[in-house]
Amino acid sequence: MSTIAVIPGDGIGPEVIEEAVQVLDELALGLDFDVLEHVNADTYLQTGIALSDSDFDRISGSDAVLLGAVGDARADMAYARGVLLRLRFDLDLYVNYRPAVLCHDRLSPLRDETRRSIDCRVIRENTEGLYAGIGGRLHRATVNEVGIDAEISTYHGVARILDFAFTVARRSVCLVDKSNAVRNGGALWQRCWAEARDKYPDVPARHLYVDAAVMHLVHDPTAFDVIVTNNSYGDILSDLTAELAGGLGTVGSANINGGNGFGLFEPVHGSAPDIAGQAIANPIGAILTAALLVDHLGHRDAARAVRAAVEKVISAGNVTPDLGGPLSTKDVGAAIRAQL
Ligand code: NAI
Ligand code: MG
Repeated sequence: MSTIAVIPGDGIGPEVIEEAVQVLDELALGLDFDVLEHVNADTYLQTGIALSDSDFDRISGSDAVLLGAVGDARADMAYARGVLLRLRFDLDLYVNYRPAVLCHDRLSPLRDETRRSIDCRVIRENTEGLYAGIGGRLHRATVNEVGIDAEISTYHGVARILDFAFTVARRSVCLVDKSNAVRNGGALWQRCWAEARDKYPDVPARHLYVDAAVMHLVHDPTAFDVIVTNNSYGDILSDLTAELAGGLGTVGSANINGGNGFGLFEPVHGSAPDIAGQAIANPIGAILTAALLVDHLGHRDAARAVRAAVEKVISAGNVTPDLGGPLSTKDVGAAIRAQL
């Protein structure tokens, strides 16, 4: 007989857990359920205790835990931290395994034509965050080795990227952060966000945590215009938006000094060592990068023409294998030039 500690938790947690437990019951595996119904936000709000030591012991003494969800707008961050993060950390649950398999074609959001008119822009803070290079290593090459990368957010850096985002918005701005878990930098981003919203009251604005944002992006990418975010989330989200828009090989990017206007333009993709030297790399990302560059320099018509040429070539199927076509890198370049 195995004992399953069950924490239904908050919100829909209890509802879904109920069903889950019934399914487990149906399986007649001889499972015993130790339901900790009281571990929820109501209890926390009444007692100030997220998870008591005796509950922790009950849970850690079980064979497995089934948890619905913890989280309630009335409770502060210490609550979810005190339940879920405590269990993860104190039980050393160091793998977070999240499989995803498409059960049926019908369930993919992108099967739907109306989900495909994607036109969004990730505005990624490019000089701070997790990539600023502040940190170090201790006890190198030993079993005690420590690696630290500090995530830097400055008022100056955050305020100016938010400002840039609002100035390039056509329909809306969405701030993506993780201020519910990354507390200090998160608070600074939220402060600057409130100021930016005050400064641009006419631009529709919303905020999403990064985990919800990826879900929304896949569900309906057309709902997004400008997505503004920090360095690491921007890195990751822009690969997702690139893939949603046709693939990593098809999108360009600009690195811009919003003050003096200087720009460095590059395709989003990296060096792709797996296909290097085979003459099959898609040049469209680089070509659209060039369009961004000329656009930035004020040659709007030229940029438009390049984009139109790319669209024609893609429509005709004159593309590299990554887009399902037979052409080489050079042939695609030639086809685009022919359109121009
Ligand atoms: P990647 O972007 O190089 O490749 C990811 C996948 O996309 C690979 O399967 C690749 O074949 C495919 N892909 C990328 N560009 C493509 C194209 N134009 N046409 C067809 N397929 C394309 O990213 P990965 O593999 O993570 O990184 C490879 C190297 O690139 C690493 O050293 C990484 O650090 C570096 N990198 C550099 C970047 C930059 O310079 N901005 C950005 C991302 C990665
Ligand atoms: Mg990247």
